[in-house]
Amino acid sequence: MAEPTVTDLPAQAPPVCLADFAERARAVLPPDVWDYVAGGSGAEVTLAANRAALDRVAVVPRALRGVETPDLGARLLGRPYAMPVAVAPMAYQRLLHPDGECGLAAAAGAAGVPYLASTLGSTPIEEVAATGAEIWFQLYWLREKALVRDLLARVREAGCRALVVTVDVPVLGRRFRDLRNAFRLPSEVTAVNLPNGRDDLAHSGTPGVSAVPAGATFAPALGWDDLAWLRERVDLPLVVKGVLDPRDAQEAVRVGADAVVVSNHGGRQLDGAPASVRMLPEVVDAVGDRCQVLLDSGIRSGTDVLRALALGAGGVLVGRPLLWALAAGGRAGAASALDLLAGELRDALALAGCPDPAAAGALRTLRVD
Ligand SMILES: Cc1cc2nc3c(=O)[nH]c(=O)nc-3n(C[C@H](O)[C@H](O)[C@H](O)COP(=O)(O)O)c2cc1C
Repeated sequence: MAEPTVTDLPAQAPPVCLADFAERARAVLPPDVWDYVAGGSGAEVTLAANRAALDRVAVVPRALRGVETPDLGARLLGRPYAMPVAVAPMAYQRLLHPDGECGLAAAAGAAGVPYLASTLGSTPIEEVAATGAEIWFQLYWLREKALVRDLLARVREAGCRALVVTVDVPVLGRRFRDLRNAFRLPSEVTAVNLPNGRDDLAHSGTPGVSAVPAGATFAPALGWDDLAWLRERVDLPLVVKGVLDPRDAQEAVRVGADAVVVSNHGGRQLDGAPASVRMLPEVVDAVGDRCQVLLDSGIRSGTDVLRALALGAGGVLVGRPLLWALAAGGRAGAASALDLLAGELRDALALAGCPDPAAAGALRTLRVD
């Protein structure tokens, strides 16, 4: 991968917020790839609800707290990171830019935040780990347990720091945009971490049929017992991603999860599911201090991170904005997006009178309708 420079970014005024990267990405991406990333499932009710619900969370700032430059440092899964933000796991990043997974992971490493590597990565996990970033591996449960075992051995060998099991994809949500576009992956973008041919389907487009995902590969009938099986065999911190109901968060605690991610998969799975931020306080109440609670789906600014922290999250995952930044400028684009987010979070904490992210948990919030 070529050494990135700022000249990789289109010559325009520098982005002032993450939304600016979306515009740039839209200008350079093929329309069907733009739709694959931006879209949600069904009528995209949940996709829209994520944003609307975050905008309705008002955080009440404190005055005269003597805070000048907040320290953004935070502990995620007990490890110190530069800020309470992680890169959400997202499939097929070489669709967006040749830098792909290595570009986004290197940017995460430079920013001091974890990079969550998808099972459906288009770069081998070993190469992503070689960027030096802290990698948390995201697992989609495969039908064949032997394949799960093989993948886990590679994850261990590659030095990944955590295992993130995604539990909200028993089947893929119906994504109308991809169905209408008969979306399929170009031949050079494959799920290289899976055995040969496992994502064949994803490359053959038929009108009215989306080629994503590789439906034959995943195990839909996953149960909490399977997670307990995994917990016994993996000595990495375990994260359960895709929980909305507090009872599921309690199940996750029961099987020994170290963290849950309150998430509706960015509105890409059950359309009509609630905004993840709406469920956050209930989940925080349900698990108490027995495991860490992270949030994703709709986070677009430092203010959104502050909202999540004020509602009791230990940190957030950011998805689409980082793919847009990758599309717009490769590794350098992703690095500038993470830098922008850190600056926004620093300002948001200072404006709220918080010396650090942990202090945000004591802020008052209101739901404004
Ligand atoms: C293009 C794309 C691919 C994704 N692929 C995965 C994946 O492979 N595994 C996974 O657990 N989540 C996946 N997600 C969901 C994200 O991890 C995350 O939950 C979601 O994008 C957060 O919402 P946001 O994009 O609004 O920030 C994907 C999301 C997008 C947009």
